[in-house]
Amino acid sequence: MNITCCRTELWHYAQAYIVLAGISEGGKNMSFLNVKVMNLAVLLCLCVACFGRNENLQERLFLSSLGLSSRPKPAAQFPVPSLLWKIFKGTKTPEFSVQDNDPCTVSEFGVRGNIVRFVQDQGRTLSVSSGPCPSCVEKLLFFNVSVLETAEQLTFAQLEIRFKQDFYPLSARAGGQAVYSMSLWKVLKATLKGVSPEMSRKLLLSQSVRLTPGSITLSLTDVVKAWRKPGRNYGLVLALRPDDDAAAAHPSQNAMFPEFHASFPEFRASLVVVSLNPLQCRSRRRRSALYLPVTPSNVCKPRRLYIDFKDVGWQDWIIAPQGYMANYCHGECPFPLSESLNGTNHAILQTLVHSLDTVGTPQPCCVPIKLSPISMLYYDNNDNVVLRHYEDMIVDECGCR
Ligand SMILES: *[C@@H]1O[C@H](CO)[C@@H](O)[C@H](O)[C@H]1NC(C)=O
Ligand SMILES: *[C@@H]1O[C@H](CO)[C@@H](O)[C@H](O)[C@H]1NC(C)=O
Repeated sequence: MNITCCRTELWHYAQAYIVLAGISEGGKNMSFLNVKVMNLAVLLCLCVACFGRNENLQERLFLSSLGLSSRPKPAAQFPVPSLLWKIFKGTKTPEFSVQDNDPCTVSEFGVRGNIVRFVQDQGRTLSVSSGPCPSCVEKLLFFNVSVLETAEQLTFAQLEIRFKQDFYPLSARAGGQAVYSMSLWKVLKATLKGVSPEMSRKLLLSQSVRLTPGSITLSLTDVVKAWRKPGRNYGLVLALRPDDDAAAAHPSQNAMFPEFHASFPEFRASLVVVSLNPLQCRSRRRRSALYLPVTPSNVCKPRRLYIDFKDVGWQDWIIAPQGYMANYCHGECPFPLSESLNGTNHAILQTLVHSLDTVGTPQPCCVPIKLSPISMLYYDNNDNVVLRHYEDMIVDECGCR
């Protein structure tokens, strides 16, 4: 299907309508023409209506190929994790070498994938500073991984726990001895009240941690793979308690820094998930030419078009790029079709017939024959930050088809 050709047709109707309207106004008793004008007007309205509907349909189609059910309306604009920025910027560096340009590899993690998501934690605090252990905290972590589509193959998942920055000065003042023991369980099933929750948990990790800025990461690929099956995701439980051994070694701390021991460690957890949608990943060389030559000519060729996401009203959920050089194909496919117009045999024959019968047979259409991908950073319907490699976004070459 070819939009340029369709649009041209619509434009011809509009022109015919204007011309005919002009005639009918000038002449008298031209009921025959008036009927025609009416017909054309109806046709035009239908066409406009159908284009209006198509716009909605087009938006839905585009959103669904990004794995989105509707246009996201991010409530809180979570900051973009620096790692995602780094990967995003990496995708934009011009490629001079031919070998390392598989766009479907996330080299930061050394895995295949064309989608990187930062899934937000939707869990809640289970208990904090209770009774005998004032600095203990236990939190349920829940990551909704049903945002991954069925076609996506999960290749990597990593939990990241980042301690709140303002806790650091306290631990630094306490002689850098803010050693906690951290335990992480996978919750196996929902528990009822009164039943010991420990029965339905599987310990994944238990280690000493120092509360310093920066983060603790833990590979969770297999756990997250299992969560994708319906009814399997009960989340994780993370518990932090002051390390008894360390506390015993520094008994004076309690007295010296009461505010430190009265506070409990605050942290933020996120899950980095890399997946591969093979349907949206045809490995192939990315474009090298960024600029199209400006040569005045009517002949079919790529034309410059900058798409600003603000113009489509998408600036609130697309983080980057704000727009990009998308280009489009436009121009004539005249007889005889030269080789540079990349016509098919069919197009060559069609121009030949067109040259003999200009009214009955249209010229072939000028359409994109080579497109290249871009990467996009955006918020999905669950406020997660997603980086996605997206095929067929830029017109590189046109041809007569
Ligand atoms: C997880 O996300 C899906 C799709 O975005 C949504 O339908 C579902 O309600 C969410 N589940 C939970 C437990 O929040
Ligand atoms: C046709 O393809 C060639 C390379 O295959 C390209 O250089 C040329 O620009 C293309 N023609 C058009 C009109 O895009």
